[in-house]
Amino acid sequence: MKKTVQTIRKSKGKTLISALTAYDTLTAQLASRADIDLILVGDSLGTTHLGFDTTVEVTLGHILHHTAAVSRAKPDSLIVADLPFTHAHLSPSETLKSCATLMQQGGAQAVKIEADQTLGPTIVHLVSAGIPILGHIGLLPQRIHALGSYRKFGKTQQEADQLLKDAQALQEAGCFAIIGEMIDPEVTSRITESLDIPLIGIGCGPHCDGQILVSTDMLGYPSPFHPTFVKTYANLEKTILEAFQTYAGEVRNREFPNSQQS
Ligand code: KIV
Repeated sequence: MKKTVQTIRKSKGKTLISALTAYDTLTAQLASRADIDLILVGDSLGTTHLGFDTTVEVTLGHILHHTAAVSRAKPDSLIVADLPFTHAHLSPSETLKSCATLMQQGGAQAVKIEADQTLGPTIVHLVSAGIPILGHIGLLPQRIHALGSYRKFGKTQQEADQLLKDAQALQEAGCFAIIGEMIDPEVTSRITESLDIPLIGIGCGPHCDGQILVSTDMLGYPSPFHPTFVKTYANLEKTILEAFQTYAGEVRNREFPNSQQS
């Protein structure tokens, strides 16, 4: 059955949400067949597939292209597109245009925004125009150049209090759910309890309303980053490398193609 923002919103306290990133039709089809609730066309696209060092380089055009590929899979999973670097900080009407492009031309059914409480008014504007917004708090990778390094959030009282305020503000602005990234597990638990909407965690421990992972990480693709919180459910690096090496060897030895394969 097709998952909608209402499915996600209403799962709070009932069922845990399973979410994954996907950037192409094939992966989206498999995620849907595996009954994944939410597919995020994340800007992690930049570091996992496009060879960029950070997500800052990812543009609206990149996200649009890959969201359209995911939406052509017609997955039962809810399709959420990531709003790239700085787009949420333009004027509310410019931000609205970017989100509308992802929905009208890309087929996104919701948009994710890396945010803190200062973006509340922009989110109110987007939600009132019919754009479902998934908030994102904690580690905001689009701020990497300001932060200096990727790290855990909420370890100080001040940071923990700010995260609780950010989560409340995003809920009040109308987000249907929030992603928390790399937040101290105890603080995560307090945020989860304080919200009426689901908190979906990545690197936040178990006390969330669901979990999200970057698909290439959990599938065991090669990656320059190896977050400690990731569980690898497959070793595609090994499987693909072995298949490519075997093929190269068979071509060189004239074992492939044989008479049946020609
Ligand atoms: O871009 C992305 O993949 C994300 C997830 C890490 C939540 O924002």
